[in-house]
Amino acid sequence: MPPQTIDDLPTPVLILDRAVLRRNLRRMSDRLRGAGVALRPHLKTAKSIAIGRMAVEGHDGRITVSTLAEARYFAQGGFKDILYGVGIVPSKFAAVTALRRQGIDLRIVTDNLPVARAIADAARNGDTFSVLIEIDSGGGRAGLPWPDLPGLIDIARVLHQAPGVEFAGVMTHAGHSYHESTPEGIAAVAEQERQAVVGAAAALRAAGIPCPIVSAGSTPTAVHSRDFGGLTEMRPGVYVFNDLDQEFIGSCGPNDLALSVLASVIGHYPHRNQLLIDAGALALSKDISAQEFQPKVGYGTIADAPAKDMAVVACSQEHGFVGAADPIPYGNLPVGSRLRVWPNHACITAAAYDRYYVVDSDLDGGKAVVDTYDRINGW
Ligand SMILES: Cc1ncc(COP(=O)(O)O)c(C=O)c1O
Repeated sequence: MPPQTIDDLPTPVLILDRAVLRRNLRRMSDRLRGAGVALRPHLKTAKSIAIGRMAVEGHDGRITVSTLAEARYFAQGGFKDILYGVGIVPSKFAAVTALRRQGIDLRIVTDNLPVARAIADAARNGDTFSVLIEIDSGGGRAGLPWPDLPGLIDIARVLHQAPGVEFAGVMTHAGHSYHESTPEGIAAVAEQERQAVVGAAAALRAAGIPCPIVSAGSTPTAVHSRDFGGLTEMRPGVYVFNDLDQEFIGSCGPNDLALSVLASVIGHYPHRNQLLIDAGALALSKDISAQEFQPKVGYGTIADAPAKDMAVVACSQEHGFVGAADPIPYGNLPVGSRLRVWPNHACITAAAYDRYYVVDSDLDGGKAVVDTYDRINGW
């Protein structure tokens, strides 16, 4: 008999509030539709076919993934237009073409001229590729650095002229939006993100190379951008769940967090005003991104906390150390009782789990398990 309420679940376990998920999905869907930009959600956060289907409802079904394992999994789930948004290497071409031969329009990205030439060579044997060039709009991760865009035209020309290769366009991800915490600051990064790819597309077109896809996106920039002009699509990802980091940078409010980790209290330590839970570094992750703007959040904050500033202040592999600014009311939290922890970074926390236990806070206070959704992990 499957679990009926979250009290029946073994801990630690991932809890997803479907009511909040649906609101998050609706908000982003409406926003991008209103802006006239296609939604290509980055499903690296959810890694779930069930959630992916909800995310593209009312849209054309295009998605982004971060691993080939996700690409295979979502292809099996019926998704056809898939952007693999991590720089490709030749050893992965065979996995890409295997999916393309099944009719999946799996698109790949590169910022590297030798790799572009290798793609052109690989297409000589009859395989096809669809390739976007990655642009660095200021985040300093992958991509040709904007505004100089060194090598852009050379790479694009190799791809555009190669038989069997579709040069599909340009893409960027403004990771530096995560270091802003005001709507104005994020809007300024969003404008850099937009100008970087729109500028790259203009340079390509001026060189006679078509650039159909002009793709940008992160959750903060999708939420705060004031101008989507010239973009054909946006790729937000973590908006599906939101997390403490998104809350503190202002991409969402405190009631928009859909994902939490349910943990059991396993020990009381009043001499140091702490208790232990069975969710440590593996169950929560050691991502401390939200500490940039709120140092007190530790490795996650406690939902409906009975003491001020209650958070996981330290982690070992399977132990979470919960502290608070006030004395912890141990009588309310006997050993064996349960706490819910809001994660710093939902994408990383979720990666430790193979499924979501789904509750619905609109139905019954969110205790009944109304569904389970599987996830794909690994590469
Ligand atoms: C290439 C790319 N596109 C889109 C996203 C989605 O951004 P976010 O997680 O802010 O929603 C990411 C996230 O890392 C990314 O790497």
